Amino acid sequence: MKITKADFVTSSSNHNQCPEADFPEFAFIGRSNVGKSSLINMLTNHKKLAKVSGKPGKTQLINHFLINESWYLVDLPGYGWAKVAKTEKEKWGAMIHDYLITRKNLICIFVLVDSRLAPQPIDVDFINWLGEQGLPLAIVFTKADKQSKNKTQSSVAKYKKHLLKYWEKLPDSLVTSSQTGTGKEELLNYIDGLISA
Ligand code: GTP
Ligand code: MG
Repeated sequence: MKITKADFVTSSSNHNQCPEADFPEFAFIGRSNVGKSSLINMLTNHKKLAKVSGKPGKTQLINHFLINESWYLVDLPGYGWAKVAKTEKEKWGAMIHDYLITRKNLICIFVLVDSRLAPQPIDVDFINWLGEQGLPLAIVFTKADKQSKNKTQSSVAKYKKHLLKYWEKLPDSLVTSSQTGTGKEELLNYIDGLISA
């Protein structure tokens, strides 16, 4: 699939404000700074469609982008940023939770994890929670440009092995780099496959 049109639609502070659930929807979620907004820009060939920052906590709302006038890509705020006040954390947690649970057109939740890191409890708990809720997910290993292919492969293998403690059948996973475009076609084809299914 090629993205020929990508339009920012709206930022919402709760699920009730989100656009009509009239198109298939795909959301990016994961820890602050993992590269959610960067991946949206990479996929859509835009430098500044989604706001990116070296400082964690840049994305604070539910941001809808309409792609090819036919599906939504959603940039969510990150979790697990230590410097956020507890009340803020709770507010974001509730916002994301309600969005994930209630959004009827959500076809897949892409959980982004840093390809360089060993499985982090906060991510694994979140992945397992999605599984328990019966929500559709896939794992995206980000920032693959930051280490060798071998290292990424071994880190992904370790991750999968860890998840097998909790999962009978592992969720699908992909490896990406927003810097080099690694995984772009695979991810777009993956989305395309889900839309056509
Ligand atoms: P929040 O909105 O704070 O939750 O963060 P985010 O997950 O949207 O991360 P964002 O896309 O803003 O990127 C965070 C930092 O990581 C920025 O400095 C990006 O330039 C950098 N970054 C993101 N993806 C990649 C990647 O694939 N490779 C490299 N080298 N850097 C990346
Ligand atoms: Mg962001």
